Amino acid sequence: MERTFVIIKPDAVQRGLIGEIVARFERRGLKIVGMKFMQVSEELARQHYAVHEGRPFFNGLIQYIISAPVVAMVLEGTNAIAAVRKTLGATKPAEAELGTIRADFGLEIGRNLVHGSDGPDTAASEIALWFGEDLVSWGRASDPWIFE
Ligand code: RTP
Ligand code: MG
Repeated sequence: MERTFVIIKPDAVQRGLIGEIVARFERRGLKIVGMKFMQVSEELARQHYAVHEGRPFFNGLIQYIISAPVVAMVLEGTNAIAAVRKTLGATKPAEAELGTIRADFGLEIGRNLVHGSDGPDTAASEIALWFGEDLVSWGRASDPWIFE
């Protein structure tokens, strides 16, 4: 079982898409083990996106992510990291497959609605950064019907 970190970004929150996006993860079978509605500080945004520091889009990315509230989530499931990345679609919405969140709701890379960890190391560090130990391990009634 694997855990991954997701952000429902400010554009998705402002557009009233929180429920739609959470529903897609739930329907996929992913289990919510952490979730909070929050205003991101510039410090947290810079830590989260530290890998992109110095890139031309960095300042715009920071301003975007702190411009309005977000929903931060930790999702658990079999191959959760890859499953979430597939559910999000390619970084550029114009290149994302139809049926993914970014293709179904987005048009531009700088307004691509969602974030998902890109590997086991980033998942672990992002979960620690955003949630620390504040996660809920719980038995879901549907678990045996989703996890073999
Ligand atoms: P994310 O981290 O948000 O899940 O997205 P990703 O892995 O698919 O893409 P990544 O390369 O990590 O980029 C992080 C976010 O930075 C913004 N971006 N803008 N204008 C640009 O060229 C550009 N490139 C990246 C996007 O919001 C992207 O999701
Ligand atoms: Mg990324």
